[in-house]
Amino acid sequence: MKKFVYMDASASWLKPQSVIESEADFLANSYANAGRGICGRAEKVDDLVLESRRKIANFIGASEKNIVWTNGSTDALNRIVNIIKNTVADKNLIVAVSDLDHHSARLPWEELSKTGGCKTILLNLDKNLDFDFDKIPQADVFVITAMSNVLGVPQDVSGFIKTVRAKNPNAITVVDAAQYVAHEKIDVKKFDCDFLVFSGHKIGADTGVGVMYIKNPEFWQCDKFGGGMLKRILDNGDLILNQGGEKFEAGTLPLTQIVGIKSAVEELKYWDGGQDLLDYMYDELSKIERIKIITARKAKILSFVIRDMHVLDFGGMMGVRNICLRVGNMCASWIHNKLDIDGSVRISVGPWNTKEEAKYVVENIKKIVG
Ligand SMILES: Cc1ncc(COP(=O)(O)O)c(C=O)c1O
Repeated sequence: MKKFVYMDASASWLKPQSVIESEADFLANSYANAGRGICGRAEKVDDLVLESRRKIANFIGASEKNIVWTNGSTDALNRIVNIIKNTVADKNLIVAVSDLDHHSARLPWEELSKTGGCKTILLNLDKNLDFDFDKIPQADVFVITAMSNVLGVPQDVSGFIKTVRAKNPNAITVVDAAQYVAHEKIDVKKFDCDFLVFSGHKIGADTGVGVMYIKNPEFWQCDKFGGGMLKRILDNGDLILNQGGEKFEAGTLPLTQIVGIKSAVEELKYWDGGQDLLDYMYDELSKIERIKIITARKAKILSFVIRDMHVLDFGGMMGVRNICLRVGNMCASWIHNKLDIDGSVRISVGPWNTKEEAKYVVENIKKIVG
């Protein structure tokens, strides 16, 4: 087999043909700016943005007024820190983060804590490295990684937030659904979270577009100012902002990518999750003595380490065989520290992967470490 085997869906999803075609068609035939023009063509773009916003709202059980377009999860997670700080001007915010977090979810808070803007504390994990509901600390903000990009186990987000709120009814909850979104149904009403984010490129949309759900957009202060987010400036300088999430959308939006994300979400519903491929590879790799699998059998990804071989060396050897897996610390150093390893290998599948490819990957792993 000469072809390129891509099993790195969790890093970025390959693009379905419908996404490519909808973006190409938009660029070729309908392109104009949104929210500014009054000609028919510009109004058509407004309609396309609204259609995508409705699609996304429906996809996560929200209303369109709760949806904010961002440039991706990292962008949104950083923005949320500023939105919260601008609204709750309390220097002593206690922010609960966890070892499941990706750097993008935790570093913005850790950096803020260095200048005294908040204090971070750690959420407890149980023996399976899931959130420990029995030991939830007192905190003002909870950063909740809905699914670790290393362990691949969807967390019980609604149960966790319910337990947090029973202890602290005013807790602010921020859900990082960057990995969860491709695998589990998101229902923001059931989650009852204040914020939730994900990136388009991890579900088949283009890079440069992401979604930030905000439960009460009217309550929170803006973090960005500019064109497109307000209706009028009063004589005294006060701003009459757009209603709902649109007040957080200053500047020209990533229009082409917003058109594409609608098709990506439509495609996602036809995917079965690829668990049969993961199960097959899990069982085969379990038989290799030098391999230690660090994910659970039914996890949504397959991560492992190899005795006496650095994961970067392994990744390079798979790379020359045209097999693309992710190796390294996955921007999730804390969970690797907790497991006492400096990196891992991650296999993550998407709808394009086949059993034949899974066999090819196993075969090559056996050749390298068997
Ligand atoms: C759990 C998690 N959160 C956040 C991110 C950041 O996403 P992006 O790079 O699309 O901003 C990632 C990316 O891998 C992730 O896995």
